[in-house]
Amino acid sequence: MNKKTTLALIAISAFALPGTAAAQMTAGEIEFQQACAACHGQSGHGDGPVAAYMSVPVPDLTKVSARRDGVFPYQELMDMIDGRNAERQPGPHGTGMPVWGDRFMLDSGHPNPVENEINTLGRISSLVNYIYAIQE
Ligand code: HEC
Repeated sequence: MNKKTTLALIAISAFALPGTAAAQMTAGEIEFQQACAACHGQSGHGDGPVAAYMSVPVPDLTKVSARRDGVFPYQELMDMIDGRNAERQPGPHGTGMPVWGDRFMLDSGHPNPVENEINTLGRISSLVNYIYAIQE
């Protein structure tokens, strides 16, 4: 195996999250690596591979509190990530945050809509907890 192939395999396995690595991660971190790192970067600094293709800057999520005088805006982030009732409505493709609330509702696929909503809000709050944990 040449050096390039080895590097490519390392890069892929970092995203594939092997069982042992996943076991040491919180639910929010696993979710983050799967759904958010493409834009926000693996460590949340806004430097994921897709960020270059966005027409708006992708924010550094380790500086959410720093941008707000040290206050971590829990509810604002819940609404922002959810996107279904967000004040900052996401723009068309490539100009804003995807609406995760709709996607998580669809993923949930439970016959009871209340279960779907609980699952959706749980996934979003695990993400907000993870973002809280990575504040610098
Ligand atoms: C397709 C690229 C993309 C993906 C994927 C993405 N985001 Fe974003 N995100 C953005 C962009 C662009 C903004 C800035 C939008 C704005 O300011 O209105 C943003 C803004 C944010 C903000 C607001 C930060 C602040 O300080 O106000 C949070 C929080 C956030 N994203 C979390 C997430 C989470 C959690 C995920 C995964 C579930 C995710 N993002 C996935 C592109 C993305």
